[in-house]
Amino acid sequence: MTSLYQKTEEFVNKVTGGSRHLERTVYWLKELKPDANELMQIAALSHDIERAFRDKNYDKVSANDKGYQSDEHLSHHQQKGAEIMAQFLKEQGASEEVINKVYSLILKHEVGGDEDQNLIKDADSLSFLENNIEIFLTEQIKKMGYEKVLNKFNWMFERITNIKARKIAQPWYDEAIKKLKFLNENGTSYE
Ligand SMILES: [Fe+2]
Ligand SMILES: [Fe+2]
Repeated sequence: MTSLYQKTEEFVNKVTGGSRHLERTVYWLKELKPDANELMQIAALSHDIERAFRDKNYDKVSANDKGYQSDEHLSHHQQKGAEIMAQFLKEQGASEEVINKVYSLILKHEVGGDEDQNLIKDADSLSFLENNIEIFLTEQIKKMGYEKVLNKFNWMFERITNIKARKIAQPWYDEAIKKLKFLNENGTSYE
């Protein structure tokens, strides 16, 4: 029988076209909590599902002062993602308990809250710092500018609460800041 996790995997792959960021978030969740249950893994794999359903006009949010770190954007991103997954799980016949748990994990995946919500947040930060730095230094910086990229890197690192996660993230964060500063001062990457 296909597990709920496998069904989520099929759904996520279908709507995102496959996402290394999401796959690595599951990987890091299991590194931080080897006994993470299926519901936590489902939430990790689907936490950014909102992006796959985003209205094209919504990108104007990046022009805000705080860009994608604005409270307005973050709560929309968390809430819509939680709702999409609750609907998907309901269609799969999942119990209310399962639906509520996954909903609550996605609902706070950016800002954290309880222990489990914090683990999804920290796994998300690890996956971001591991894989997404280059795209921000090469592509996103053209749209967002130096300050917003700096804020994004700082925020992704500083929100980590798990001690093991912080240790793993530290060298990636330091390297990202070094490259970003070099890029800002020299107008070019040193690579
Ligand atoms: Fe997110
Ligand atoms: Fe994410």
